[in-house]
Amino acid sequence: MKKYNLRVTPRQINEQDFPHDGNSAKKLQFLLRYAILAPSSHNTQPWKFSPGEDEIQVFIDRTRWLKVADTDQRELHISVGCALENLLIAAEHFGYGHQVTYFPEPANKELVATVKLKSQGQPTLFRDPVLFEAILNRQTNRKVYEERPIPQDDLQYLQNCCVEGGIWLHMTDDLETRRKVDELIIRGDTIQFSDPAFREELGYWIGQGVFGAPWLIAKIGQLAVTYMNMSKGQAKKDSEILMSAPILAAISSEVNDRESQVKVGQVFERVCLVAATLGIRVHPMSQILEISELKAEVAKLIPKPDMVPQHTFRLGYAELEKEYTPRRPLEEVLVR
Ligand SMILES: Cc1cc2nc3c(=O)[nH]c(=O)nc-3n(C[C@H](O)[C@H](O)[C@H](O)COP(=O)(O)O)c2cc1C
Repeated sequence: MKKYNLRVTPRQINEQDFPHDGNSAKKLQFLLRYAILAPSSHNTQPWKFSPGEDEIQVFIDRTRWLKVADTDQRELHISVGCALENLLIAAEHFGYGHQVTYFPEPANKELVATVKLKSQGQPTLFRDPVLFEAILNRQTNRKVYEERPIPQDDLQYLQNCCVEGGIWLHMTDDLETRRKVDELIIRGDTIQFSDPAFREELGYWIGQGVFGAPWLIAKIGQLAVTYMNMSKGQAKKDSEILMSAPILAAISSEVNDRESQVKVGQVFERVCLVAATLGIRVHPMSQILEISELKAEVAKLIPKPDMVPQHTFRLGYAELEKEYTPRRPLEEVLVR
């Protein structure tokens, strides 16, 4: 059997290398290679996993929490939900049935879920098998989108990703809503980029190379973001890309708790993967939920005012981004 150099190649996975003859723990570990390709805010990858014989424990890694941008740890939990969803899709692809228990130990808030896995399980109906392939291709796309509507059938396919009770996906092409969101984005960028603590945090992660820039460029980016208030330029750029998108979307939840946020992440990742199979690009724009007064405004734009907006993003068409963002090696996120 081929040996991986996990340090070098988190993205280079070949499903043929699934260790069919290996022990159970090795097999479960292989599934996690797909989990770590999930999106996460600032590509912080704030997750840890403990694979056992027939179960994987999924943890948040609070050391990677964005304390300034994500004060309420919403994005932290959504990010882990994205990784959990990739894990379940990979599990189904390799023939496992699964049972997820969210926050199984109420006193242990780091343990987000345990996933029991059983070989020869039945796949779930709402996880289309094609989603597995898309795990490797999915990427965030921050380009200006083309002036091209998304066909109704494709919107329906995306809508069908949201099956969790108490979670709601709202997509709109309404111009008036877009204008209002645009105003909020401009306010959000102005507030955040005028805040040295926000810039320092963003600069730190840029300096870590999380967005794929080579080391020197990443360090220059870190200095620029940390020491220059670029709020005007950022707001103008974000306004242009927001207004270009044919569809704006929000995922909301009835209850504003951790489990709901993890489930929001799962729905979002499914949307991303379905979108990837349809050639539709996705770009989260979180600044409008990171500032509480703006979040309250966002809630008013969603037809279910009692629900809490958890994640906002735009959808549309553009050329692919040239590069994929890096990932930490699997061994770094395993706990035993
Ligand atoms: C909860 C969450 C919030 C995010 N917020 C933003 C955002 O506000 N702006 C942005 O450009 N990207 C945002 N992203 C995208 C991440 O930056 C992206 O997933 C990460 O850099 C990894 O790149 P990839 O998605 O191309 O694999 C967010 C992703 C998640 C999961």
